[in-house]
Amino acid sequence: MIPLLSRKITGSVMDRLPALKVVANYAVGFDNVDVAGAAARQIVVTNTPDVLTDATADLTWALLLAASRRMREGMDLATSGVWEGWSPGQLLGMELRDKTLGILGAGRIGRAVAARAPGFGMKVMYWDRDASSEIEASVGAVRCNTLGQLLKGADVVSVHLPLTEQTRGLLGTRELRRMRAGSVLVNTARGELVRTPALVEALRKGPLAAAGLDVYEAEPQVPAELRGLPNAILLPHLGSATREARRGMWRVAAENVRRVLAGEPPLTPV
Ligand code: 8YV
Repeated sequence: MIPLLSRKITGSVMDRLPALKVVANYAVGFDNVDVAGAAARQIVVTNTPDVLTDATADLTWALLLAASRRMREGMDLATSGVWEGWSPGQLLGMELRDKTLGILGAGRIGRAVAARAPGFGMKVMYWDRDASSEIEASVGAVRCNTLGQLLKGADVVSVHLPLTEQTRGLLGTRELRRMRAGSVLVNTARGELVRTPALVEALRKGPLAAAGLDVYEAEPQVPAELRGLPNAILLPHLGSATREARRGMWRVAAENVRRVLAGEPPLTPV
């Protein structure tokens, strides 16, 4: 089986497919698959890492730039037909040079997002369960000991954690209130990591100046409160949507299936 992320592969789904040997998820994240349930049934689970890292990191920067430079409001104004012309105080955003990018989760995608920061003159800090010598060496990222330290110290926070029982709802009202006034939150990971009502409040009343979101708690629903906020830049889960990444994802998923059916070890087991 090569399921999309939108398909939940539960124990009961597996029980209905007694000949199932491999779940080759068409995604790097595998929160849609009951991995323990698969292991108990001797079903192999694989994902598609690496091939979508750059695509997702690029899209994260697209959102980061769009949110810091108020592009939703700018595009609305430019296409409204009522723009009355440029003025010195119109739609001022945040410049990135000398600001701090806070990476939540220093896995492949978090590190690729961090690697793009020096080009914009940004400093990097990160928070992860494990220290990452790679992110520290490549961009001089400073590790935060606590989540609070990262939230207080970053001008832009970008979320790159997997969705697990430990990370679900990680950013709620208390956490978002700790962020800097005028800061930006970007989420290209999973919507369930951030509590929507807390995010809406932080965008309406501060401290957030803007948010760039590619993912939502109950996709494909995009919450109406977010749709109505001009400082919410919203995309429909486009992180890996490049021709190159999607081709790579098919290649890896198909090769994983081929290998398991041939009795060989899979390329990318989870
Ligand atoms: C989706 C993703 O898989 O890989 C992931 O974890 O979230 C995305 O790449 C993709 O949009 C197809 O469902």
